Amino acid sequence: MSMPMKRPILIHPDPRLKKPAPPVTEITDELRALSKDMLETMYAAPGIGLAAPQIGVSARLIVLDCIKDEDATPRPLVMLNPEIRAVSDERSVYEEGCLSIPDIYAEVERPAEATVRWTDADGKEHEETFDGLWATCVQHEIDHLDGKLFIDYLTPMKRQIITRKMVKLKKDRARDD
Ligand code: NI
Repeated sequence: MSMPMKRPILIHPDPRLKKPAPPVTEITDELRALSKDMLETMYAAPGIGLAAPQIGVSARLIVLDCIKDEDATPRPLVMLNPEIRAVSDERSVYEEGCLSIPDIYAEVERPAEATVRWTDADGKEHEETFDGLWATCVQHEIDHLDGKLFIDYLTPMKRQIITRKMVKLKKDRARDD
């Protein structure tokens, strides 16, 4: 088995970030390698979640680990075909960011708890109710699979300002290459 490698992360605006992803139908070695690459990419960024469309792969696959404390045991989760089964009426607000929208943060309100069903990289089924940062993160990542970004929850005006900044960032990066 080869070592996991970092993959380039797509930056908004990119049509691949807006496209709904199809379900994973087969767990292959390639898919397992991809999920390891995604964890590697996420930890290196550093980030707490990453969805396959963000590295240009259209598949319902996300990775996350919301353990931020360096001394705590990491909890890397690989979710194939994650599905939100239930959410709480109670809502919470977190300042969200996204590896595809670097250095931009904004408050987003979402359900405070989310019950998610998924398949792991070994084909095992799981269901768990997440709260706190985990609930926000898992909802944010599942949104990516539906072509939705956290800035889609903001006003059109704010979204436009952020999108302009990202267009400029991409131009600057292209010039530096
Ligand atoms: Ni994101």
